[in-house]
Amino acid sequence: MSEPQRTDDHDAPEPGAPVPETIEQHVTDALTAIGSAADLEGLKGARLAHAGERSPLALANRAIGGLAPQDKAAAGKLVGQARGRVNQALSARQTELEAERDERILVDEARDLTLAPGRRSLGRRHVLTVTAERMADVMVGLGWEIADGPGVEAEWFNFDALNFDKDHPARQMQDTFFVDPPEAGLVLRTHTSPVQARALLERGVPLYVACPGKTYRTDELDATHTPVFHQMEGIAIDEGLTMAHLRGTLDRLAEGMFGPGIVSRLRPNYFPFTEPSAEMDFRCFVCRGEPTASPCRTCGGTGWIEWGGCGMVNHNVLRACGVDPERYQGFAFGMGVERTAMFRHGISDMREMIEGDVRFNAQFGMEI
Ligand code: DAH
Repeated sequence: MSEPQRTDDHDAPEPGAPVPETIEQHVTDALTAIGSAADLEGLKGARLAHAGERSPLALANRAIGGLAPQDKAAAGKLVGQARGRVNQALSARQTELEAERDERILVDEARDLTLAPGRRSLGRRHVLTVTAERMADVMVGLGWEIADGPGVEAEWFNFDALNFDKDHPARQMQDTFFVDPPEAGLVLRTHTSPVQARALLERGVPLYVACPGKTYRTDELDATHTPVFHQMEGIAIDEGLTMAHLRGTLDRLAEGMFGPGIVSRLRPNYFPFTEPSAEMDFRCFVCRGEPTASPCRTCGGTGWIEWGGCGMVNHNVLRACGVDPERYQGFAFGMGVERTAMFRHGISDMREMIEGDVRFNAQFGMEI
């Protein structure tokens, strides 16, 4: 049985010369597609279909190689011209569409520079943070170090080390948050003074350390009290320190916070951890103690602003921390950060500093 004869490629009849009408039709199709391409993406499609490798004109061009020699020149001219027209149309449309796109971008992305900018408000640092940081900065400027201590404090550091007897009435002076269980002997620190003992034990003498931080007492929140507040403690222990050093240091701190020319006074007071103890007041920087028509709003008409407690560190505290009071003495102070911020900025109600109203906070925050 004989197989049917297979027709191989080389046996196929040679393609004939391209027909001008057909080529013209390809050109017309191409020009129509190019003309109706609405954007550059559309034109890309038209280019692929009508000038790409598999387009009718490219195929016709490729077929020229297989033509009889005498047909090649005419076919080459016909197809070449056709492809030239298509390519020209493509590049003309390309230029047009690019110009349209650029025009559209200019319109779409136009910015009216005369419009008022939409303000995006930035967050601000809280006035207490800024105040405490500035207080610490003043101390660093005097060559002091900054220390830290825990908010949940051992009762021993908060009271015992600071010379509060077990049943010393001063312990009741402080309205303390005790931490459960009571046997654990932990409290929320009622002042930053426990850092005095911590710093003495951890760093030894000579010691110049300030500690801004949070403190807690069982106070009701009102215009002048808050159960969570802030103090900055300072302690300096060295050879030969006197009350004059205490006063000079507090005057520098006051000037750093309220401006130059501070006049201060020390009023006798009592704290178990200092002897002698004092309250530091400074001359009201608004009325300067001069009589005014209506009582000064800053000092309430007294002419003095009470700032905080201070004194010479009690020898019992030094001894509790292993320091020889015969050789080393020093002073300590504890200033309220809230009070400082209130006087500095004329804030009359403490609650404003706690409520978190951005309109209040936005007035402060940036300080160089
Ligand atoms: N701890 C005291 C208070 O909270 C303030 C104070 C007074 C701190 C005298 C001191 C000091 O360092 O020497 O009221």
